[in-house]
Formats: sequence, C-alpha cells, structure tokens
Amino acid sequence: MSGAVTIADLAQAFALLESEGVEGYVDGGAGAGLTVRRNDEAWAAIEIRPHALASVGTRDISTTVLGQREQHPVMVAPVGFQGYVHREAEVGLARGAVAAGARYCHSTFGEASFSDLEHVEGLRWWFQLYCFDDAGLNQRLVERAQEAGAEAVVLTVDLAALGHRDRDARTGFTLRGHRPVACVAEVGHLDPRLASVWASLDHNISWDTLEATVASASVPVLVKGILRGDAAVKALDHGAAGVIVSNHGGRQLDTAVTTARALVEVVEAVNARGEVLVDSGIRLGTDVAKALGLGASAVLVGRPALWGLGVGGHKGVTHALNLIVEDFDRTMALIGVRSVAELTSDLFVLPH
Ligand SMILES: Cc1cc2nc3c(=O)[nH]c(=O)nc-3n(C[C@H](O)[C@H](O)[C@H](O)COP(=O)(O)O)c2cc1C
Repeated sequence: MSGAVTIADLAQAFALLESEGVEGYVDGGAGAGLTVRRNDEAWAAIEIRPHALASVGTRDISTTVLGQREQHPVMVAPVGFQGYVHREAEVGLARGAVAAGARYCHSTFGEASFSDLEHVEGLRWWFQLYCFDDAGLNQRLVERAQEAGAEAVVLTVDLAALGHRDRDARTGFTLRGHRPVACVAEVGHLDPRLASVWASLDHNISWDTLEATVASASVPVLVKGILRGDAAVKALDHGAAGVIVSNHGGRQLDTAVTTARALVEVVEAVNARGEVLVDSGIRLGTDVAKALGLGASAVLVGRPALWGLGVGGHKGVTHALNLIVEDFDRTMALIGVRSVAELTSDLFVLPH
C-alpha cells in the first residue's frame, strides 16, 4: 500500500484487486460516465494564482463546520454496501476516518448498524438518510442515529430513481437482495432485506419530506444532491442548516452539471445563510483548496476512501485520506496561505 503515493495509484490497485463487477459498481457512473469524468476535469480546469513571499512556515488546516471544529476539511462521503469491497465494510471506513482525523458520514444502506458505529472509539459522524414511504421508520432511523451519536442528518435527494449504470448492466452486477440493511434491521423494520427495503423507498420525496425530516431531528439537517442556487435557497427556507453540492459522484444523472461549476452558483445564492459543502471528483489537495476558495466549508470524498478500503481495509482508508490532507497542507503553503480563512476566490481562475 505504501507504493500507492497518489489517489490515482490507489484507484489502479483497487481495479486490479476487485472483481470486474465490484470495480464497476464503485468506479462506474450513470450512462456513459460523462459526469464522472467531467467532475475530475472540472476541478483540474480551475487555475491557481498563488501569493508570493507569504511567510507560510506555520499553517493551520483546521476548519469549522456546523459549529464544530474539524481537524481538516476532508470528510468521508456516505457510501452504501461496502461489504462488497472489503470484509471490514463501513466499520473499516469509520475506523480509517478516525485515524485520519476525518468526520464520517454513514449511509442508510450500510452493512454496519448503529450499534456497530457506537463501538468505534473516537468516531465523529453524521447519518445519511434515504426516506421511506413509512414515516414512522424515517423517524425511528433519525432518533436511533442521534442516540448513537450522529451530530447531523444528511438527507440525500437525488435518488428519485436509480441512475442507469451502463457498466453494471454489462457486467451483470446487482446488489444481492437478501442481504440485510443493518440500520433498518436495528430499528425493527419487519423485513430488513435489501429487496424489500428498496421497494419501500419514497420516490416522491418533496419539500414536505425535508420539512418532516427537519421536524423529526434535533440535530442540523443538510440536504445532499443540490446543483442549483434556487434549490439551495429553498432547502434553507424549509429548515435545512445547509446543503451538499453533489451529483452523487456522477452515478445518477449523466451530463449533470459538474460540482465545481455548480458550487459557484450555490455559494452565491446561499449568501452565507447556511453551510455549503461539496463532493464529486475531489482527489487532490488542490481540489480541496479550490472548493474552499470558491466558498465550501468542507469537502467529502467517496471513491478515494473506497479505493483505500479495498486495497488495505481501515489502514487503506486512513492512507487515502492522509494523501489528500497532506496534499492540501502542501497546497496551502504553495498558494501562500496560512489558514483556510485565507483561501479566497481571488486565488482561483475559473475556466471560461
Ligand atoms: C459505491 C458508492 C455508493 C454510494 N452510496 C451512496 C449512498 O448510499 N448514499 C448517498 O447519499 N450517496 C452515495 N454515494 C455517493 C457519495 O456519497 C458521494 O456523493 C460521491 O461518491 C462523491 O463522489 P466521488 O466518489 O467522486 O468522491 C455512493 C457513491 C459510491 C461510489
């Protein structure tokens, strides 16, 4: 694993290790995968105008998100069913995040239960909620997550239908319907097998769903899957504490706008009324610096953590996160800033 000196190296090692089906499940995107590719390219296309002679020998990469101090601005995005990738599954992701000083976001569709997470020492986490057509189940999930220590609820809103993943269709990869959804099983849903849980997803979620989620939670609610300024403002109007600009890593709607581009519009529309985070295509410290410079308070990474998990279990997750965080610190030095507050938009040049 120490041979993997970049996230791209980890991705390559992961592709060699995993079966074609699992590799496609993780790395693939919706349709032909144009948004997956463009996400990466959009971050790369932003150029940097560094300061000179800025005396940056001492730097502070910590930041504040939802009023909580974070050691650095890189978090682990919610990703479902990681038992396919590595036997440590989400507990491996959580342990790896702790060792890298990163916050972890746990998917509704995890194979680890709330109780499993309670046993991960030092874990700081949020719960990602997919809503079901059973309001009581949604309420129990939120309550149990809070009881187990979740400090925010992340409502994902870009799954009105499952994106058509061309690669999965070709390899024949499907998530096995008989495997239980651990969090749903724990709050006492009658049939926690994936096939039945999937069938109970609420595909009619609306702004009322957001209001109900906010009402059911005593922790802040973030809305994940926002790509427009007007939608971000509406989310705040309906009680959200902030939004996560995300196209689900290009897995839902192919040719959806890249998050590097959408972020600018969302930050402007939110106008500091709420928190703005971003994910999709973040691989390098320069990507993190650009996201913060454009107004995000933190970033989430999905596949990089999974590549680390597949290659080296929880240690691989820590390695992946450390690569990005160390690169972020180095980038701050090279840009000429000493704190995340100094990452201002004048340091970046957007493509035309
Ligand atoms: C294998 C996989 C499973 C995912 N499962 C979920 C999920 O259960 N809930 C969710 O909100 N997002 C899910 N996502 C999307 C991620 O939270 C995140 O938005 C995306 O991975 C970020 O892009 P990146 O992988 O390019 O970093 C998943 C992503 C991947 C790769």
